[in-house]
Amino acid sequence: MRTQNPLPNLTFEPMGSCDLQEVLKIENECFENPWSETYYTLSLKRPRSYEHFYVARHENTIVGYIVFSILHEEAHILNLAVPIVYRRQGIAKYLLTSALKMIQAQDGHEVFLEVAVSNLPAQYLYRQFGFRICGIRKNYYGRYKDAYVFRKGVEIHVV
Ligand SMILES: CC(C)(COP(=O)(O)OP(=O)(O)OC[C@H]1O[C@@H](n2cnc3c(N)ncnc32)[C@H](O)[C@@H]1OP(=O)(O)O)[C@@H](O)C(=O)NCCC(=O)NCCS
Repeated sequence: MRTQNPLPNLTFEPMGSCDLQEVLKIENECFENPWSETYYTLSLKRPRSYEHFYVARHENTIVGYIVFSILHEEAHILNLAVPIVYRRQGIAKYLLTSALKMIQAQDGHEVFLEVAVSNLPAQYLYRQFGFRICGIRKNYYGRYKDAYVFRKGVEIHVV
């Protein structure tokens, strides 16, 4: 099944402390090993200059988020999630496109990310954007749960 028409009027905004409960709900829904409330709270309270937390909002509802870092011309996509009810509407593409534009604007030269070997939807998404496998991390998500390392150069491939 291909993505439906993209959801209209999406906005890409910095995540704020007031978004925390909505984000945690999505985080817990999407991941077997979710990031903790403490981690989000501290990151939002004392932001690091190289870390970026952004949400996609649709009519006052958070419909996805992305976390990435840019340090010494190297960027990492650290987290990306879309709630189940909003999937296949182009929200992840929108989040990734928006993040890649910021990375390019801040002189990021290459982008890396880890994705579980078993997570085919995410791998298809990243491949569409030109990411390719450059390594494997054994037991990255737990015992026998390996991750691929994906990489792409910064020329932006907007889909
Ligand atoms: C992966 C995820 C972020 C995709 O979000 P989404 O908003 O549904 O994705 P989009 O609608 O923007 O789809 C973009 C592309 O992703 C791929 N894709 C997404 N879901 C897919 C699925 N269920 N099966 C196959 N491909 C899929 C497709 O290539 C799709 O493009 P296409 O529709 O033109 O074929 C979402 O499924 C999710 O939150 N999963 C759980 C968390 C997660 O795995 N995060 C990534 C960690 S590395």
